[in-house]
Amino acid sequence: MKFALVLTSTLLMSASAFASPELAEKKGCLACHAIEAKRIGPSYKDVATKYVGDKTAVAVLATKVRKGGGGVWGSIPMPANPQVSDAEAKKLVEWILTLK
Ligand code: HEC
Repeated sequence: MKFALVLTSTLLMSASAFASPELAEKKGCLACHAIEAKRIGPSYKDVATKYVGDKTAVAVLATKVRKGGGGVWGSIPMPANPQVSDAEAKKLVEWILTLK
């Protein structure tokens, strides 16, 4: 019983550690973003650092991921990403904000 619990939590932990980078890859985010380095868009570490302590960040950024927008990091705007659902956008942003 105890063993089963440990096994389940290990599986859950590894699922949450790996699911979001794979999702970012699958949804095309990594064409413009890298975790460590600026590409067309800001690095995800820079994004995480910028929004430390900002309680509205997940909601605001998830909307921006889906609808697109610009003016925060430079002159290039992010196009809309309609292939991403609300729940996926939230999951991606929550993952990005852990990367600081
Ligand atoms: C075509 C290139 C491109 C793609 C694809 C792209 N982004 Fe971006 N992203 C950008 C650019 C450029 C910015 C900077 C916009 C700005 O200055 O406000 C940005 C900004 C962001 C930000 C920070 C927004 C802010 O207001 O601080 C987040 C979070 C983000 N992107 C997540 C994602 C996710 C998740 C995906 C995949 C679903 C994605 N991006 C796909 C180019 C892209």
